[in-house]
Amino acid sequence: MVKKKTCIFISGQGSNLKNLIFRARDHNFPIKISLVISNNKNAYGIKYAKKYNIPHVLIDTKIKNYENKILFYLKKYKISFICLAGYMRIISDKIIRNFEKKIINIHPSLLPKFKGLNTFSRILKNKEKKTGCTVHYVNNKLDDGDIIVKKTFFIKSSDNETTLKQKTHKLEYKAYPEAIIKILRRN
Ligand code: GAR
Repeated sequence: MVKKKTCIFISGQGSNLKNLIFRARDHNFPIKISLVISNNKNAYGIKYAKKYNIPHVLIDTKIKNYENKILFYLKKYKISFICLAGYMRIISDKIIRNFEKKIINIHPSLLPKFKGLNTFSRILKNKEKKTGCTVHYVNNKLDDGDIIVKKTFFIKSSDNETTLKQKTHKLEYKAYPEAIIKILRRN
């Protein structure tokens, strides 16, 4: 099987990146992580790229035409698939046009509910009975696009933001690889 050369975009902790790095070691897993892009120089996840010898680039998304820099590196590393993993920026039209249906994202809620930030506090405030995570294709709207995989769990009365986050992350480590396999194995 030819693995797709993949770039993971991060902004923070990078635990989904770490999970995908481990999963991609399996020769049956359809991606090879060839590049990590971060828009945040303090992103903890950069440490995983360094530790596992994956090329990584820091992009300042505040500068004009930063998309050209991103596209330059995606081309340089022959990237054909992109996973957003805690990347807290909207992907611009220019990049989406170059990677139509080739960019996916994971979000810590049952989309279309609770798009955006502060997901867990809003879920609790809304007294939801269940929550989970969603992997979806990326378009130019926030946490939008066709859904690939959704995973759910029931919220307990004892849950708080910290436990919801932990439980959601645990589900994400299953959902993201499952979504990647689902859409790339059939190619
Ligand atoms: C994950 O929970 C992911 O779903 C969320 O950021 C976290 C990143 O964790 N993404 C979003 O909220 C996107 N709107 P990680 O850096 O440990 O992988």
